[in-house]
Order: sequence, then C-alpha cells, then structure tokens
Amino acid sequence: MTDGPHGMIFSVPYEIAVVRPLRQTTVDERAATLRSAYYNTELIPQELIYLDLSTDSGVSALSTHQLAAMAAAPTAEPGMGLATEGSRSYALLLEQVKANLGFPYLVATTQGRSAERIWTKLNVKPNTLVLGNMLFPSTRTHIEMNGAKIIDVIGDAAHDLTSPEPFKGNIDIEKLQAAIREHGAEKISCIYVELSVNGCGGHPVSLGNLQAVKAVATRHKIPLFLDACRILENSFLIQQREPGYQKQSLRQIVLATCALADGATMSALKDLLVSSGGLILTRDQASYQKALMQSFLDGVQPSGSAMELMAAALREIFAAESYVAARVEQVNYLWRRLSDGVPVVGPPAGHAVFVDVNKFLPDISTEHFPVEALAAFIYQRSGIRVTKGPPAAPSQAARGITLLRLAVPARKYLQGHLDDVAAALHDAFAHRKEIRGLGKINDPARGKYAPAHFTRL
Ligand code: F0G
Repeated sequence: MTDGPHGMIFSVPYEIAVVRPLRQTTVDERAATLRSAYYNTELIPQELIYLDLSTDSGVSALSTHQLAAMAAAPTAEPGMGLATEGSRSYALLLEQVKANLGFPYLVATTQGRSAERIWTKLNVKPNTLVLGNMLFPSTRTHIEMNGAKIIDVIGDAAHDLTSPEPFKGNIDIEKLQAAIREHGAEKISCIYVELSVNGCGGHPVSLGNLQAVKAVATRHKIPLFLDACRILENSFLIQQREPGYQKQSLRQIVLATCALADGATMSALKDLLVSSGGLILTRDQASYQKALMQSFLDGVQPSGSAMELMAAALREIFAAESYVAARVEQVNYLWRRLSDGVPVVGPPAGHAVFVDVNKFLPDISTEHFPVEALAAFIYQRSGIRVTKGPPAAPSQAARGITLLRLAVPARKYLQGHLDDVAAALHDAFAHRKEIRGLGKINDPARGKYAPAHFTRL
C-alpha cells in the first residue's frame, strides 16, 4: 500500500486473457524424445516441452492492445519503402520512440541483427577497432565482417561469477583509456556498450559508468553506441541499485541512458514483447537517411503491423512502470529460489539466471559437453527445456567459464512455473552424480552450423 493517488500500486499490471494448454509428458516419452533429438535440447519438438527457458527473445505474450493494433494496421498500404513520412504505422512508432527513448531518427528493421548489420556497415571502418563490453555474438560478427577488431574493455568483475558487484556490465574506464592511448583515437570506429550484458549474466551498466564512458568518448571524438535491446531491465536495476536514482521514473532513466548515446541498435524481440522487429536509433539525419536506404536495399523493413505492435508495446510499458518491476522481480525470484543450493551467477540480473556449470558438474570435462549434458538431464527429469544458448565470449572461453542460461521470457510464465523450474534445478543438482557427459557425432552430411548431434557416453 502506498499513499497518493494510486492507493495500492498494482504489482502486475495485466491479467491473462488467452492461454495455451500444455500436455503432461512422461519420463519414458522424454527419454525417447532425447534419443531422437540426439541429446541436443535445441532439437526437441515444441509440443513436448513443458517450460521453455531457451530464450527470452520473441516468445512473450501479446497484449490485447497489441492484438488490436495489429488488427488496425493498414494491410492494404504499399510497403513503406523510402517514403517513411507517408506511413501511418511508422509515424506511430516514431512518436513512441521520441517520447520514450528520446532519439529523433528511427529506422525500423525486422530484427536486431539486421539493425546491427546496417549500423556497423555505416559506422565501422576496415582496419579499425571497436571498444566494447562483452558484446553479443551477432554484434561481434557484424563488427568483424566490416574488417574491424574488437577490444573487450569490460570490468574484471564480469568474470567473477560470485562477487556481489552490482554493475558487472560496466566498462573499465582505465582499460578504455589505455586502449585509446595505445592505438590512437583515429583508429577507433566507435565504443559499443551493451546494456544488461547477456553474455556474462545479464548484468547491468550503471549510468555513472556510462557518463564516464561518454566523457572519454567526447574528449576523443569517438561515437558512443548502445545495444539497447534490454534497456528496460538495465534501467530498472539502476533505479534499484545506483545511488541517486531511486526517485526517478523508469522513463527518466531510459531517457537519461539514451541521451548519452550517439546511436543505438535494438532487437525488439526482448523488451518490446514482439516476435519480429528491430530499431536503429540516431541523432544524425545523414546517418538516418543512409540506414533507411540500406534497410530498403537489404529488404529488412518490417510490416506495418510489426511497427504497430512495437508502438503499442512502448506505449503500454511506460504507461504502467510496475510491469518492468514485475518482470525483473520474477527473474530475481527464480534466482533467490536457486541460490540456496544451486551454483548460480550472482548478483541476480534482469532477464535470466545463469548456472555455473563448472561448479555444478566439476567431473565432466569441456570436451564432454557438460552444458548440453546438464540441459538434456534437466529435460529428461522435468520436461523443462534449457539450451546451450549463445556461445561464450572469447574472454570467458579463455578463462574456462561455462554457463547455462535459464532465460525467463517476459510476460509468459507464472510464479508456479518458476517454482517448478527451481524444483527441477534442485533435483538435477541432487542427482548430479548420475549425469553423464556427451560425445559429438561427426556426420559429414550435416553443415558446419547445424545443431550438433550427440550420443550419451
Ligand atoms: N543483442 C543482444 C544483447 C541479444 O541478446 C540479441 C539476441 C541480439 C542483439 C540480436 O537480436 O535476435 O533480434 O537478431 N538475443 C537472443 C537471445 C537470440 O536468445 O539472447 P535479434
């Protein structure tokens, strides 16, 4: 209860309008499923999964506002092409972007990846460097495809899986300055900062750190870009943890974060609760025009209904800020349920709980695929699906850090579901001596990037 016009603040500002029934499976059925999926949980048919924690991307429930917006989207309009001014759906999205993210120019795309490909093509020059904080593999790939190298300048705490440091996504300002001193500012295409760093545990970046990064960037005339796909979780954790921000609204923190950046790329599949969409955000009209042209040439412009879904999500999220609190609190709840017995990465973060697999399965060596073996064991006993997820960053691989991500999709599961996840993880930990490693089946007919086939050792 609080005083003021709201009386009690609603802790979850939505109710469930449509549900999808799940079929109870048996242990034998799941064992057979695993055999036919070659022990790779990525290959399990969706209808045989109870809870799916393989990703938080593109799997959230739509709201009634979003469904209505989709229905209202003008399907008979021609594609947006280069004439964004004429598109109703684009105008609705731009209005929300200006109000809530504070960028004057927007290029909408089909996914985060297409936004990154275009943005890095425009801003990353061959034989230069990009300074980043353990960037997501797709961002890394796009930067490297432009002939640049990445220097990771994330703080050392990102690799300390148990330290309580509240902002393990922060850039180490000393490392940042040292890299600029060593290579020269003219060699550096940009500084790219991922918010709620996915690779190391979803850990946030503080506003104080971002301000310090911005000061260095301005001094050396280096552009500062954000990977903003989990900006909501990052902003909520700033409100919770960073001195001075407790009284600021989520929108104020989001706007303050964006105000420090010259541009941003954003997958809309996470925080904007859609299954397709991405954003390029910029303050520079010429960059906007070039990016728009490239999105047109690449054929990655979203449909009108996809843009209206994103606009509706932005409107809804900022109309009831308790939504983001509920989303992050749910992840924190799972973390608390696990941290009294299962080796999890701390402190809790925004979108996922990460398990330290080296501590969970110290006897299974890396060449016997402990992450995949643990995921298969959890599925067999519970029907819950987790997957290996995005590959480790080079700095993690070098340190032998092996994590299993329990990604919690926003607005999808109830507390009872998370209690079942906690029970399944505690059960797997209690039976960890029964877990056997996996061997990879080398099938020359399968492509290099096809999901691997395994056999149980
Ligand atoms: N940046 C980050 C931090 C991401 O986590 C992702 C996707 C992307 C960019 C790319 O966006 O999928 O729209 O092309 N992450 C998903 C995940 C795949 O499961 O974490 P996209």
